[in-house]
Amino acid sequence: MHKTIAKVPAYAFLLALILLSPQGIAASGEKDADTAIDFFQGDPDIEYPAPAPLLVNPMARDYRSLNGPWEIIVDEAGMGWRVITQGDYFDGDTVYPDTGMMLKEHSFDSRTQLQVPGDWNSQVPELDRYRSRVLYHKALTMTPQAGKRYLLYFGGANYTADLFVNNALVGRHVGGYTAFDFDVTGFLRPGKNTFIVRVDAALDETTIPTMRTSDFWKYGGITRDVGLITESDTYISQYHVYLHDREKSEIRGWVQLAGERVANRVVALDIKDAGVKVRIETNAEGRGEFTVQAKDLALWSPESPHLYDVALSLGDASLEDRIGFRIVSIKGSTILLNGKPMPIRGISMHEETVLHPGLSASREDVMAQFKLVRELNANFVRLAHYPHNEHTVRLADEMGLMLWSEVPIVSLIDWGNPATLAVAKSQVAENVTRDLNRASVVMWSISNESFPQTQARLDFLSALAATARELDDSDRPIASALVGNPKEEFADIGKHLFAQLLRDPALPPSTRERLMAIAGGQSASGGAQSESGGGMAVVIDDPLGEVVDVVGYNEYFGWYYSKYFAQSLGVDEGLMRNAMLAIMPGIRFENAFGKPMIISEFGAGAKQGLHSDKGFIWSEEYQARVYRQQLQMLAQSPCVQGFTPWVLKDFRSHLRELNGIQETYNRKGLVSETGQRKLAFQVLADYYGQEKAREEAGAEPGRALCQRDSVEAVPGATGD
Ligand code: GCU
Repeated sequence: MHKTIAKVPAYAFLLALILLSPQGIAASGEKDADTAIDFFQGDPDIEYPAPAPLLVNPMARDYRSLNGPWEIIVDEAGMGWRVITQGDYFDGDTVYPDTGMMLKEHSFDSRTQLQVPGDWNSQVPELDRYRSRVLYHKALTMTPQAGKRYLLYFGGANYTADLFVNNALVGRHVGGYTAFDFDVTGFLRPGKNTFIVRVDAALDETTIPTMRTSDFWKYGGITRDVGLITESDTYISQYHVYLHDREKSEIRGWVQLAGERVANRVVALDIKDAGVKVRIETNAEGRGEFTVQAKDLALWSPESPHLYDVALSLGDASLEDRIGFRIVSIKGSTILLNGKPMPIRGISMHEETVLHPGLSASREDVMAQFKLVRELNANFVRLAHYPHNEHTVRLADEMGLMLWSEVPIVSLIDWGNPATLAVAKSQVAENVTRDLNRASVVMWSISNESFPQTQARLDFLSALAATARELDDSDRPIASALVGNPKEEFADIGKHLFAQLLRDPALPPSTRERLMAIAGGQSASGGAQSESGGGMAVVIDDPLGEVVDVVGYNEYFGWYYSKYFAQSLGVDEGLMRNAMLAIMPGIRFENAFGKPMIISEFGAGAKQGLHSDKGFIWSEEYQARVYRQQLQMLAQSPCVQGFTPWVLKDFRSHLRELNGIQETYNRKGLVSETGQRKLAFQVLADYYGQEKAREEAGAEPGRALCQRDSVEAVPGATGD
């Protein structure tokens, strides 16, 4: 018996290889040999077609939502290509006439479904840590109309998405957090059509972000809205309508057509309540620009987030949007909003919600987060570390929340890899293009804590800054969370820590003697002194500071650094933490470029509900103590215009495995993953409440500002 069985598979395997080889399938005459590949060889080596130009404002178009249940096949073997393009293993989707004798071994049926939009990690326990491929399948019965174009729109899919329509490859999108669409007009047929999307969540050291060097969960799936958009043969694909000059109420912008007849067309722009009615002529490439004077424009601001109804019409097709008009500019070391220092009361936020596990996927999910932001008396949100879904930016427009928008160029990136740069540029372009008309987006961040400080890194990031500046005629500032040089910066702080430790009566005599001996051997020399004099200065001089307009900086005084100082001096970490917290108010932050500065992260971890009368680390009390010291410290840094503490809510991360405390959550949230507040929440809410009251009483909005306004305005920033 055993012998017989052993014989069969060998022949079957051989037969499969022959039959399934390109020659075999060509011989059968059933499929084009070029797309046939050997069953066991995975994907063919082909050039994947790129997506169509991104359609902005999709929901305002003739949009048929494909949200809801999609059937799936988990495809970790990478079988997908053959199963899709041959189709002869599908139950009900076969591309051959089903004679009732066909062997099928895969079926898209209701047995296994995923909700779209939504990550698969939080929907199926077995997929919580799954980072490979899933085939999504949706059938749609329709009759394509002549003269119409059909675009399949995705708000986002993480990380690589390959689209097949009726088993034929349409194209590939790479990048997990930006919108894209494919023109499927030529692929649709009358009657039943099937869409198959192969999503691959795999990341490595060449992707954006990488798998290892980014501290957030790598969710997979069709994570955002999907819809079939119907357009006439020529349509408005993109536009930008923005306030160029506040005093003159001058609105500028452009409109881009796509499709058959784009040249020399007339697009009408109407902004009824601003007395704007203008006809825009397109050029040979289908692009038309305009400048127009508005009347009595009500500016958008956090206090008064006024949105205008804007209509763009081509023939009888009209596209409506709601756009706020405001100006973000920079003067010396100050960011201005509508000519006044921008009042920044910020918080950082990942794209998860307190309403359910997994990514925010709806307006309600985001509203739950922004409700917490409001309760913090905050008016500025750093969207870490990637573009969030479109509900987020549109809700921020309506609520008057300013947004730091960011692409996931996090930490260590493959700076010398042209393919990596191409993906990074496309993510910047897709992010900027989608949100050009969002008043809430006040700056574009091109990276977070990127290192090492090599020329390759600088060239890569300079190219991203150039991409954003080229696409955004309204000159929003370019930001980034720069990296410091701990050795230089902390030498000075180390001296102050040393002195503070020696003043601590709890210091054991033996440690005191040892430190005295060290102190005796070293002359007390100050570190980089702040120009504003006094205290300890942390002066950021990362060369990326020459490229960006706004210097962001993440610092973790009170959390991470105490550990390293304690280890280097062989001192009890608790004593070192007390010393650090004591000297923090004397630390100033500046940058060597005289540019505006935002502390883009500070924080401490705490498990919600863990209390300690001794203030032990991971207790809510310790986190609140760090916040109090941080706020006191930053209030005395005249060159820091605002901060976005890390982070609104505990969020998932594969780097956070401390049992009993983290268990795949980064615990620096001010609320738990289900929205339970920690003590530090109120510490920040009270601080921002006082700032807000001061501003409402007419004090200069924003914070005490750096005395460096003599520095020339940033070249290229719109005058105000
Ligand atoms: C870094 C990083 C975050 C990370 C945070 C932390 O600054 O930007 O992505 O989550 O520190 O250590 O919690």
